[in-house]
Amino acid sequence: MSFLILLAVAATAFVIVVVYFVFASFAFGAGYQPAPRRVVDTMLSRADVGPADVVFDLGAGTGAIVFRAARERGARVVGVEVEPVRVAVLRLRRWLGGPAERVTIRWGNLFALDFREATVVAVFLWPAAMERLRPTFEAQLRSGSRVVSHWHPVPGWTPTSFDPETRVYLYRRP
Ligand SMILES: C[S@@+](CC[C@H](N)C(=O)[O-])C[C@H]1O[C@@H](n2cnc3c(N)ncnc32)[C@H](O)[C@@H]1O
Repeated sequence: MSFLILLAVAATAFVIVVVYFVFASFAFGAGYQPAPRRVVDTMLSRADVGPADVVFDLGAGTGAIVFRAARERGARVVGVEVEPVRVAVLRLRRWLGGPAERVTIRWGNLFALDFREATVVAVFLWPAAMERLRPTFEAQLRSGSRVVSHWHPVPGWTPTSFDPETRVYLYRRP
């Protein structure tokens, strides 16, 4: 009997942790879901990310985009994340495998961020967040910079390209 109670407590605790991890950031702009490998491939290649780029991942999660952009493409990457457990994971990954000199992790709200230095902005957020970001993109992003988004478009913008298989939208600022 006591074993069953223990099991029920452990199962409840597990569910609470999972629900917290996935849904805690809902109110900020998106829950947690890492971009699959194939999607990250498409995002990085469509945006033509290279060593000269400064990539901002707005809502960096656990780093699916951040570390591949830095390691495989040689870009300087800034990952911004609001949820503290994911920030800890990002910092641990940076500490363990780096490249620390090219990866910056910021704990904070992406809507309060100045990303004027970005040449590429990567996003995997929800529609309301995309709507809210649009004027900031228009005000801050330099000519020639790219916005690459998985799943949701930037409302009102015409994509430079769209990959229906991975649902990756690319926008190049005029
Ligand atoms: C769908 S996940 C994408 C994670 C990562 N970019 C990827 O593609 O694997 C969205 C992430 O954005 C974060 N997020 C949501 N709203 C945010 C905000 N206002 N500021 C910073 N991060 C936010 C969430 O915590 C979550 O980790």
